Amino acid sequence: MADDHGNEKKLDTVRLQTMSRAFMGSATLFAAIELKLFTAVSEGDNTVQRFAKKATISVTNADRLMTMCAASGLLVWRDDHYINAPDVQRFLVEGEARYAAPWLLFTRSGWNRWGDLAKQLHNEQEPQVMAASKTMSVEYAQRYHKATASVGFGSGRRFSKQVDLSQRRKIMDLGGGSGAYSIVAVQNYPQLSAVVFDLPPVVEVTREFIRQHDVEDRVTTMAGNFTEDELPEGCDVAIMASNLPMYSRQIIQEVIRKSFTALLPGGEMHLVGEMLDDDRTGPADAAIWGLAEVMSNSTGITHTRADCVEYFQHAGFDDISVDDFIPDILVRVCGRKPT
Ligand SMILES: C[S@@+](CC[C@H](N)C(=O)[O-])C[C@H]1O[C@@H](n2cnc3c(N)ncnc32)[C@H](O)[C@@H]1O
Repeated sequence: MADDHGNEKKLDTVRLQTMSRAFMGSATLFAAIELKLFTAVSEGDNTVQRFAKKATISVTNADRLMTMCAASGLLVWRDDHYINAPDVQRFLVEGEARYAAPWLLFTRSGWNRWGDLAKQLHNEQEPQVMAASKTMSVEYAQRYHKATASVGFGSGRRFSKQVDLSQRRKIMDLGGGSGAYSIVAVQNYPQLSAVVFDLPPVVEVTREFIRQHDVEDRVTTMAGNFTEDELPEGCDVAIMASNLPMYSRQIIQEVIRKSFTALLPGGEMHLVGEMLDDDRTGPADAAIWGLAEVMSNSTGITHTRADCVEYFQHAGFDDISVDDFIPDILVRVCGRKPT
């Protein structure tokens, strides 16, 4: 294989070795969050000795953990103490408004099953639509959306900045979860109202978020399953965020078609999802979420940007656009229903 300058590149195993131990990097992050390392560093327990005492672990082990965190770019050594890297300081210090640890720890429960991925891939049972969601309890939905909300409100703020909703009246937020997109949107646009559509156990949790944000007069909920039930009526905006890889092409196509039918003429739909580039070379995160569907034996797959544009075209949308929403994580496809 030649590099950009035509020189023959010597192959080695470095990339493969790094990948084979990547799970140890995840374990480091989980342990550091659990031991509140980044919170300690931000509060001044920022040397090996001080952190060891705070976390009640040995100095040797504190040194091992902090060395790995520094080597991974999570901590930075300054003169005689550590500081948190900027993203760590913003998102991993407990008590701060942007604390995102609940979401970062959420996938950790899959640790053992991911360790057995080859065995999981041998599963030959018929895939189930909504395999994981059918038995969801309210307690699970609470844990789930404590996690999604810890990043979802940030996405909601980004959405309300990227999309001008000043001429819109009502949002249907399909699979809206915590209601983050809707809650932030009505806070930013005084003329707007929203209905968060999600599964029955989830909307109980959505109502708690709506109450906490004091928007009960503007955001309502509707319990249902968007693969089977009628969608809310009278809306001129539809948002469907972060549930794309849970479903097959056929099902996503059908939900987008139903959304088109339910929207008012002139209305707009935004599909915010983990989409693969059309050359299928990445981003890895989109591929990961598709692969994760193995664990629940669902029909879900990774969809490309082009797949999603096609769903919009088939449904009848015009003015279809594709934008990075959170680069390498989420893409936003938007279309308008003709008047
Ligand atoms: C990862 S969460 C995203 C929540 C929210 N949209 C956000 O971005 O913060 C996915 C949500 O989709 C909901 N969902 C998945 N399938 C659904 C279905 N068939 N009908 C209604 N809601 C569904 C789940 O219950 C969950 O609340």
